Amino acid sequence: MLNIPSLKNKKCLIGKNPHHVAVIMDGNGRWAEKKGKMRVVGHQEGLKAVKKVVKFAFIKKLKILTLYAFSSENWKRSELEIKALIKLFLFALNSEIHNLTKYNIRLKIIGNLKHFNKDFQHCVQKAEEITLKNSGLLLNIAINYGGRWDIIQGIKKIFNRIQQKKLKLEKINENMFSQYLSTGNSLPVDLVIRTGGEKRISNFLLWQIAYSELYFTDVLWPDFNQYIFQDAINFFISRNRRFGG
Ligand code: FPP
Repeated sequence: MLNIPSLKNKKCLIGKNPHHVAVIMDGNGRWAEKKGKMRVVGHQEGLKAVKKVVKFAFIKKLKILTLYAFSSENWKRSELEIKALIKLFLFALNSEIHNLTKYNIRLKIIGNLKHFNKDFQHCVQKAEEITLKNSGLLLNIAINYGGRWDIIQGIKKIFNRIQQKKLKLEKINENMFSQYLSTGNSLPVDLVIRTGGEKRISNFLLWQIAYSELYFTDVLWPDFNQYIFQDAINFFISRNRRFGG
């Protein structure tokens, strides 16, 4: 497991910037509808906001940024919208890879990619390989992701290792279980931001957000920018995190 900030570095971060921020980017469709445009236009504008937050995470020297781009429930959307979203992901992967390298950002796609065609899987693999050795920000993009799926795939991996006698049941604890999740041996999420006005988690990183601070804003995702990101970070800094203590 390369370059992933380890759980051993876990600190309370009182009065400090978060290490790991996760974002539920919601409101692209409503943003477009309000302007009398197709939903797809909202997603295109959403991509511009993605670029802004990645740049800001880089400037603020965050360790991990995890973005929820496509949930396992998003397949219920129209074929037209799904196709447009997939096209947009591919466009972003191809056009932004040089910037990721330039800013020393490592890209990791988390989610069940088996539902996508081979070309898509190949593009993802290539982008991950190109940025594998980058040691700055870790950018996780969740595509066809569900928190419950993540926990189940982790259990399956552990079960396999037990069957192969490579792991003993007694060795399983919370820290080691985390390593089998799609986020791997990474820092827990400090701050979750959700745009678009809803106040729910929508099956995002369920295990990883056990002690996260939650920041909800009515701002629709395409209107999100570095100033609102800073507001969320200020909110985080003002929190007294007790981790149940
Ligand atoms: C939620 O808004 C947004 C999505 C399901 C897609 C997010 C995709 C992007 C921001 C663009 C590409 C991103 C990357 C990382 C390449 P919604 O459609 O649910 O909005 P609504 O609630 O107003 O309908």
